[in-house]
Amino acid sequence: MAVLIDHPCVQHKLAIIRDVETGHKRFRELAKEITKFICYEALKTIKVKEVTVQTPVAEAACRKIDTDIVVIPILRAGIGMLEGILELVPTARVGFVGLYRDEETKLPVTYYERFPPQIKGGTCIVIDPMLATGGSTVAAIETLKDNGADKIVVVCIVTCPEGIELVEKAHPDVLIYAAAIDDRLNEKKYIVPGLGDAGDRLFGTSH
Ligand code: PRP
Ligand code: URA
Repeated sequence: MAVLIDHPCVQHKLAIIRDVETGHKRFRELAKEITKFICYEALKTIKVKEVTVQTPVAEAACRKIDTDIVVIPILRAGIGMLEGILELVPTARVGFVGLYRDEETKLPVTYYERFPPQIKGGTCIVIDPMLATGGSTVAAIETLKDNGADKIVVVCIVTCPEGIELVEKAHPDVLIYAAAIDDRLNEKKYIVPGLGDAGDRLFGTSH
């Protein structure tokens, strides 16, 4: 299932990040800001514990986060979202999955994986700005599950019905949070209207 973050503050930033005239410096800033807002929503239901805190005046009944949070950026574009979630949860641990989409087959190729042991029992948040065919996200989730993760959510900036369907079919237990659910994929498997190649726009590697 996909949850759309339709808040005006997110949608305003999305309008700017989509704009072809937005350069890589602003693109990076916006990816971070949008991620922070989406993750704020995505973490709404994480496990908390009741604690009592002594204020200078009296005891206060409070709640603290009671789960290890492990953020897993899909390399390379997922790196552009990392700072945003770490501002929200500075104690989060970070794992990595290195994947790229083969330009011919459009299928994901895994070239790197490294996870902290807390993926077992903790809450894993997979971040990648684009969930297009869904192949990369499904591969990342499979790798995580193979390594013992069982609580996984996905946070992306833009997705589309095809990608959501693939993830839902393969991993119905995984929720997807996104700022946009676009119309479709084009013949190159790019999201339409999307925002182009997120990795290139983040890192300034487009021609
Ligand atoms: C992009 C994007 C996703 C993937 C989405 O990465 O960041 O990881 O494509 O496509 P999919 O849903 O069809 O699998 P890309 O392969 O371009 O690599 P990059 O992050 O190194 O730019
Ligand atoms: N990867 C991107 O960066 N953009 C898309 O639209 C699809 C895959």
